[in-house]
Amino acid sequence: MSAFKLKLGGISAEELVRYYGSPLYVYEGDVISSRYNELWDSVPYPKKKIHYAAKSNSNLAILSMLQGMGAGIDATSPGEVFLSLKAGFSPEDIIFTGVNSSPSDLEYCHETGVQVNIGSLYLLEYWGERYPGTTVSVRVNPDVGAGHHDHTITGGPASKFGIYHDKIDKINEVADKHDLDIVGVHAHIGSGILETDSFIRAMDIILRTAENVSGLKFIDIGGGIGIPYGPQEASVPLGELGTGISNRFSDFSRDYGEELELKIEPGRYVVAEAGTLLTTVTNMKSTSKFNFIGVDSGFNTLQRPIMYGSYHEVQNASRMDSPEGSYVVGGNLCESGDVFTRSEEGIEERMIPIPEAGDIIAIRDAGAYGFSMASTYNSRLLPAEVMVSGGRAKIIRERQTLEDLLRGMQ
Ligand code: LLP
Repeated sequence: MSAFKLKLGGISAEELVRYYGSPLYVYEGDVISSRYNELWDSVPYPKKKIHYAAKSNSNLAILSMLQGMGAGIDATSPGEVFLSLKAGFSPEDIIFTGVNSSPSDLEYCHETGVQVNIGSLYLLEYWGERYPGTTVSVRVNPDVGAGHHDHTITGGPASKFGIYHDKIDKINEVADKHDLDIVGVHAHIGSGILETDSFIRAMDIILRTAENVSGLKFIDIGGGIGIPYGPQEASVPLGELGTGISNRFSDFSRDYGEELELKIEPGRYVVAEAGTLLTTVTNMKSTSKFNFIGVDSGFNTLQRPIMYGSYHEVQNASRMDSPEGSYVVGGNLCESGDVFTRSEEGIEERMIPIPEAGDIIAIRDAGAYGFSMASTYNSRLLPAEVMVSGGRAKIIRERQTLEDLLRGMQ
């Protein structure tokens, strides 16, 4: 009997690797659209817009697909603005939330006409002096932060992001001085949040801050909705979150005297579960502590495990139902930390069907902050990306070549 094999979008992982090579990022288009639609449906408030956070995955094909579904964009760099415009988004649908933006970042935004969201009084003053009479939104720090790891908490006193919410008088003063129209108030408290409480607490502070700003057109409550990576984690109760947000927002709009637009900026929720990193077993060895499987990619391809101790489910895509053994999956970089099977506690063994060299290992939930954080460390090449749906596959980024490594070098 032949082994049961993993399929993605109706195509076997082995076949995808045979055709497109290894390592390979594969995205299931149907998963992206259903996650987007679930989010949309979970918020009953009618005047809303989902600004997809391009930093989670900025492949042009994914951006174009979301553009076709009516999304806007949360961009954080000229590069993300550029790609979003190329994908067909109009400047009005792009919010630029820079971090420590340079004069040239801001100039690019001004020239392209995207909505600039400013998170520092110093930069608000700079923007006002340089571009008086324009519209801006402001990012506030609501004194609430949350996230799956310290590195992803973006609210509270230890965070470099936003203007503290109690500085609202100063924000209004700078805006008046330079004739700036503040059209939006924004906050983003962190990433990978699996409970509803911090969103709601932050929202209450954002709305209380926004009461003090006149002429608003929107409130943007950021992104941050987590996904369950590990077996112990549960999904966010989306219905409860969407209703809680909508009720508060409807009350706010009524009191404000205008039906403002509610914006949210999810990245991970839309694309994480759609993505799988396929990588091939090249080696096997055991020490007194671990059974290792060696694969042909490393943290240059998927940084999340080494950077945050993030758990990603690992499967043997070549024999899903064969007898199991416990293994540590090590990458091909010259660093001892280059191990995919991790949790917050560190390196761990996982039970997977006993592999042979040449088997394909699937690392799941890698669609967000996977390729977008990849590098060419050790002069390893960036992998190819493929979109699958309904039994068809399409290459959406070619694998780098050795020649690409020379680009720009003298
Ligand atoms: N809006 C702003 C202003 C953001 O900074 C971010 C993410 C988002 C929206 C989207 O957050 P999401 O819905 O994806 O949680 N590399 C980390 C995540 C860093 C998130 C940075 N900002 C990871 O792999 O977990």
